[in-house]
Amino acid sequence: MAEPIKVVVTGAAGQIAYSLLYMISKGDVFGQDQPLVLHLLDIPPMMGVLEGVVMELMDCALPLLRSVVPTADPEVAFKDVSAAFLVGAMPRKQGMERRDLLAANVKIFQVQGEALDRNAKKDVKVLVVGNPANTNAMVCSRFAPSIPKENFSAMTRLDQNRAQAQVAAKVGVPVGDISNVIIWGNHSSTQYPDATHALVNKNGSETNAAAEVKDDCWFKNVFVETVQKRGASVIAARKMSSAMSAAKAAADHMKDWFMGTPKGKFVSMGVMSDGSYGAPKDVIFSFPVTIENCKWKIVQGLEIDDFSQKMINNTGKELEEERTEAFNIISNKL
Ligand code: NAD
Ligand code: LMR
Repeated sequence: MAEPIKVVVTGAAGQIAYSLLYMISKGDVFGQDQPLVLHLLDIPPMMGVLEGVVMELMDCALPLLRSVVPTADPEVAFKDVSAAFLVGAMPRKQGMERRDLLAANVKIFQVQGEALDRNAKKDVKVLVVGNPANTNAMVCSRFAPSIPKENFSAMTRLDQNRAQAQVAAKVGVPVGDISNVIIWGNHSSTQYPDATHALVNKNGSETNAAAEVKDDCWFKNVFVETVQKRGASVIAARKMSSAMSAAKAAADHMKDWFMGTPKGKFVSMGVMSDGSYGAPKDVIFSFPVTIENCKWKIVQGLEIDDFSQKMINNTGKELEEERTEAFNIISNKL
């Protein structure tokens, strides 16, 4: 069996982590042959709760989980880690946009970027879940200059999973038969869920989902809005933000980053933009990517119609505004 790798989860005493830690520890992310040492970071007042989580992880009797290190010290948490799930941050409440969390959360990602820079392995893969995830990931990367920019990502996989589920329900097939739905841009209400290139698997042969459904109006309106507002709908119903589905998406994202994507299939990840498809550069923008040998590549050459380009431009503009806002907050707090 391989040597254990160190994996950190921040916000480890919170809602998302409660589902995510089990998925990671039972081998859903790094594989059934990969032993793990889990580093669990939370803030000092949560150390008692975290102790309970550590007890439960022990009581799960999971063979791959070799040890657990609970801590409130980022220097300990990020030491020699190969993968980082940055979940710890304040969630939004009903009536808020995720962007409203910048003031409360952006500083966390500055501090954690600096701690990653000093302590993590240089090939660490970082997934930012805490909102606003794209801008937090951009800030984290800026404060970790010794780690390649390509190693920082933001989670839009939950949006992708939501979009895939909506298309599957519309077509009337199991969700596993839908692929290549894209989320462009920001994990916010300006995101563009795009099913133009989505595929439906019907008895082994693949057809275009839009051609199958023949309802352009549904794709441009109901589908887009349902996915854009799904996070808010869950908050309105649960009085808390999504947790189980967010954990599943985080596990999917990191698994694909480590294990790769199947031939001909792509997934969506917030990654440092190179300006592809007219997106602004140097923001963390969600693109369709393929992954091989733990390296993602933006899918090039997709046909983009006028509607799609307008949506891509709009979400890009929001990310530029958030970037300005984030650096204003950081410089005011220095
Ligand atoms: P939660 O409040 O249940 O848990 C957050 C945890 O983070 C708490 O235990 C808190 O003490 C901890 N924390 C706060 N500051 C910290 C710091 N500096 N270092 C380490 N830990 C810290 O929230 P949750 O439901 O688990 O959500 C966490 C974040 O994930 C929120 O910002 C939420 O909006 C976001 N989220 C993102 C997505 C996505 O798709 N990108 C989906 C769901 C939730
Ligand atoms: C989600 O999409 O469910 C999360 O980002 C939580 C939220 O604030 O909507």
